[in-house]
Amino acid sequence: MTRIISPSMLSADFGNLERDTQMIDRSEAQWVHIDVMDGVFVPNISFGFPVMKPIRKATNKVLDVHLMIVEPEKYVRRFVEAGSDYVTFHYEATECIDKCIDEIHSAGAKAGISIKPATPASVLKDILPKVELVLVMSVEPGFGGKSFMPNSLDKVRELKALREQMGLDFIIEIDGGISAKNAGEVFDAGVDAVVAGSAVFGAPDPEAEIVKILNA
Ligand code: DX5
Ligand code: ZN
Repeated sequence: MTRIISPSMLSADFGNLERDTQMIDRSEAQWVHIDVMDGVFVPNISFGFPVMKPIRKATNKVLDVHLMIVEPEKYVRRFVEAGSDYVTFHYEATECIDKCIDEIHSAGAKAGISIKPATPASVLKDILPKVELVLVMSVEPGFGGKSFMPNSLDKVRELKALREQMGLDFIIEIDGGISAKNAGEVFDAGVDAVVAGSAVFGAPDPEAEIVKILNA
């Protein structure tokens, strides 16, 4: 599979959202990562539908939306209507996993499920055949700029093995603390898509940094 990078808008300049989205649009990045936080599931609040609008307008790239909110079943349809290509919600955030997946699919997007660092990959076994993406958190969700947790790669290997055993083809994505320093190891472990926020937007040349991470 080709390596995918999904720069995280959480580290963009919100006063220049259009400019920063256009930078990703010009770059080699295939996806744009959008972190939605509600202050309940995670101890931070980011943004919601109105902020997605200018991002969707500024790019045709794949919008990879990561919901860190409780009761995602209440909102997934609206996130699809706001232009998401992938809507990923957290395993820990809802009692209605099947309902979330069905809503995302019937609204016309691809569904992803994410696990926090303390959640084992094995809990996802029955869910894997129903989703197009699994997002492994390699930091505690809530903030950018945190250090990568290396044991997240054990989960990646486990998911890769399950994918093979079960004859599935979901994408394995990782989020948190990824940079050109560790991206090579991360891709080699079996990750298909990496999220990178501070490493991209904190670089002197973000477009060049995207290429560096893809070729790490
Ligand atoms: C953290 C978010 C991440 C964040 C990653 O909870 O889910 O997407 O933007 O930022 P970096 O790449 O700086 O760790
Ligand atoms: Zn994220």
